[in-house]
Amino acid sequence: LILILDFGGQYNQLIARRVREFNVYCEVVPYKISVEEIKKKNPTGIIFTGGPASVYGETAPKCHEDIFKLGIPILGICYGGQLIATALGGKVNRAKNREYGKTALNINEKSLLFKDIEQNTICWMSHTDFIEEAPVDFKVTATTTDCPVAAMENHSAKLYAVQFHPEVEHTQKGSEMIRNFLYEICGCKGSWTMKNYIEEEISYIREKVGDRKVLCALSGGVDSSVAAVLVHQAIGDNLTCVFVDHGLLRKNEGDWVEDIFKNKFKINFIRVNAKDRFLGKLAGVSDPERKRKIIGEEFIRLFEEEAKKLGKIDFLVQGTLYPDIIESGTETAAVIKSHHNVGGLPEDMDFHLIEPFKFLFKDEVRAVGTELGLPEEIVWRQPFPGPGLAVRVLGEITEEKLEIVREADAIVRDEIKSAGLDRQIWQYFAVLPGIMSVGVMGDERTYAHTVGIRAITSSDAMTADWARIPFEVLEKMSRRIVNEVEGVNRIVYDITSKPPSTVEWE
Ligand code: XMP
Repeated sequence: LILILDFGGQYNQLIARRVREFNVYCEVVPYKISVEEIKKKNPTGIIFTGGPASVYGETAPKCHEDIFKLGIPILGICYGGQLIATALGGKVNRAKNREYGKTALNINEKSLLFKDIEQNTICWMSHTDFIEEAPVDFKVTATTTDCPVAAMENHSAKLYAVQFHPEVEHTQKGSEMIRNFLYEICGCKGSWTMKNYIEEEISYIREKVGDRKVLCALSGGVDSSVAAVLVHQAIGDNLTCVFVDHGLLRKNEGDWVEDIFKNKFKINFIRVNAKDRFLGKLAGVSDPERKRKIIGEEFIRLFEEEAKKLGKIDFLVQGTLYPDIIESGTETAAVIKSHHNVGGLPEDMDFHLIEPFKFLFKDEVRAVGTELGLPEEIVWRQPFPGPGLAVRVLGEITEEKLEIVREADAIVRDEIKSAGLDRQIWQYFAVLPGIMSVGVMGDERTYAHTVGIRAITSSDAMTADWARIPFEVLEKMSRRIVNEVEGVNRIVYDITSKPPSTVEWE
């Protein structure tokens, strides 16, 4: 185990990702963690992250100083490095020249951290303060033009500090440096794999649940699907999955999900066909937030009704991911849209939670899914919002509009897949803005719908860019939608990034 002490830096999750890429398990913990707790966790190494504060600031976050006496190797990055410097008698100051971006790094002393890395390389700097003087028993191992101490270490005390960010890919040999810290300095073996994770998680769930009952709200999305299969392997028929089909799914999606879980995996599977109920509640409603609220509330109500029918249920499966855990509590972002997550916990229900992925990142969940034999179409499925096509038919929803967007969407997906772009593009779909325009088809005037195509590249959907789909692919989509989907005579491509737009149109 590597412990990552979080001092509020913007790249903290990236550090965790990098460590795990070397098959070493790590956890991100608050910087305030007590020495007792650290001892209990018994880590092989500790990493201090960067952070926005100045070590001399009154409210500067500081770890307990006894940490340095544990004999556990520590790597301090940026702020974390400055903290090591000041705690042990070095000096940190405001830099005359604030460094930001790619910077030439000169490695001028032999160091395990820089093993097999050439003397001159490029690192990524992002700091205002810098280490001016290393503590007396430290050796300066690297410098830059503006940093007299770009890296320093006390080899026998196993303390290492860098001013730059090895976790960022712009640091050319950053991965190697992290690898060196893990393997050469901490002595990690790199034995943490998804296979191990699955085995451990299965026996943990088995023990926790015993022969009690577990419920899972299955959406067909990556997280809930992989969670369902994993929990099923642990407890078999004591798991029941409830799949609420709100009639706002993509083409053939409901049948497809049912077939996989019911027939292929033989999981207790309840499909609730509630199209009429949802469309009834949504009739005449055109405000986006109202639509979302109605769907979210109705979803929970239906889910509760189903749960009641099953008798006493003790546990609920949630596909919570590690980034949600790391971020929760630290960010109070403004509500741009009220997100509805299928599988969201009904507020007044009395369940214990099973969250098998609360320590995993998305790509690790995908690896688990592959290992468990889930089909590629699920493991690599693009994100799909809980309210489904309701947020892609702008304004009031009707069956006719749903049908148009559903058919158009199927063509968009089909063409992206045929062009081999489905893994490169984060999300791609059709929207129906509700605009009617004049066209001409077979010498006749038409007055029909416009379909918008939205395709974005992103790494987390927090920010996104519009995908540069080749014109030929766009052309094919356009031609097919107009020819094959009745009621459409115009196609537009959305070329806005997020921000200022959002991914979905509502
Ligand atoms: P926006 O439109 O907010 O979308 O830029 C960001 C990402 O979230 C997805 N999305 C949702 N996912 N429930 C979900 O589970 C929702 O209510 C919801 N609304 C948007 C969207 O598809 C994109 O990936």
